[in-house]
Amino acid sequence: MIAITGASGHLGKATLEFLLRKTTPESIVALVRDPQKLADFADKGISIRQSDYADKASFVTSLAGVDTLLLISSAALGDERVTQHSNVINAAKEAGVKHIFYTSAPNPSLESSFTPAVDHFRTEALIKESGLTYTIFRNNLYLDVLPMVVGDAAKTGKLYFPAGDGKTSFALRRDMAEALANALTSEGHDNQIYDIGATTAWSFSDLANSISLAGTTVDYIDIPSSDYEAELAKHLPPVAVKIYAGMAEGIKKGDFDTPSPTLAKLLGREPVSLQDYFKTLG
Ligand SMILES: NC(=O)c1ccc[n+]([C@@H]2O[C@H](COP(=O)([O-])OP(=O)(O)OC[C@H]3O[C@@H](n4cnc5c(N)ncnc54)[C@H](OP(=O)(O)O)[C@@H]3O)[C@@H](O)[C@H]2O)c1
Repeated sequence: MIAITGASGHLGKATLEFLLRKTTPESIVALVRDPQKLADFADKGISIRQSDYADKASFVTSLAGVDTLLLISSAALGDERVTQHSNVINAAKEAGVKHIFYTSAPNPSLESSFTPAVDHFRTEALIKESGLTYTIFRNNLYLDVLPMVVGDAAKTGKLYFPAGDGKTSFALRRDMAEALANALTSEGHDNQIYDIGATTAWSFSDLANSISLAGTTVDYIDIPSSDYEAELAKHLPPVAVKIYAGMAEGIKKGDFDTPSPTLAKLLGREPVSLQDYFKTLG
């Protein structure tokens, strides 16, 4: 049986949908805090079990009979997030899970300016120490987050961001979900670490060109980090400012510049590109 944590989230739900095309509903377990959120999947025959990352015992129970587990990283931060992940990894061991998949980030390191990548580094280490067979998907940034980053640049003609010439191998969350479902239901992924993203990488100038397609010309203006942080601080709490500013710094340093053929191989086609994504948005 295959179980998925975070099954009520965007990535989890999309992975469930793709899994249903690959295997029977009886062999899928969705792990959620609130089973009501997945009532439509329960109707399709998927087993829905209640568990909370903060409660290890809930996972020991809900992982009974599960061979393969996809741990979708928690939305918490720092020590709380790593403790939550540790609960799931230890429960998986106790419950007899054989293979754990985990959604990480590119170039995780204790020195990452993008602080979620520090948590991913620590979680990857826990997974390797656990002795479980593992497959780590180092998911690059979602294309899906770009409309929020771009804001009204298509109207103003100016895209302000502090990423220098840094490039990112963005990919669509839905493509990552399809690749996860394909890997969860196929062989050959034991103890592998995959860079999951586009086969190329795009700069913020490329991004500006992509949103210029609608007929307007958008210029990318590389601004100082301090200006970006000051702007974010007008709208967001300090913890969120740190994450977004850290992400921009990571992009500038090349931490997200990880083009790889792996996602395309897992999909059997090219993933959706930056340009095609904005074309479909219109
Ligand atoms: N690569 C990127 O660009 C990017 C961007 C954003 C996030 N991420 C990471 O990727 C993960 C998946 O992305 P997503 O878009 O699917 O995020 P999402 O839609 O926010 O889903 C997060 C999932 O985590 C579950 N969750 C949160 N706290 C939990 C807890 N204590 N116990 C059990 N479940 C808990 C949520 O359950 P509820 O429905 O009960 O809240 C939800 O199902 C995120 O959690 C984050 O770590 C990556």
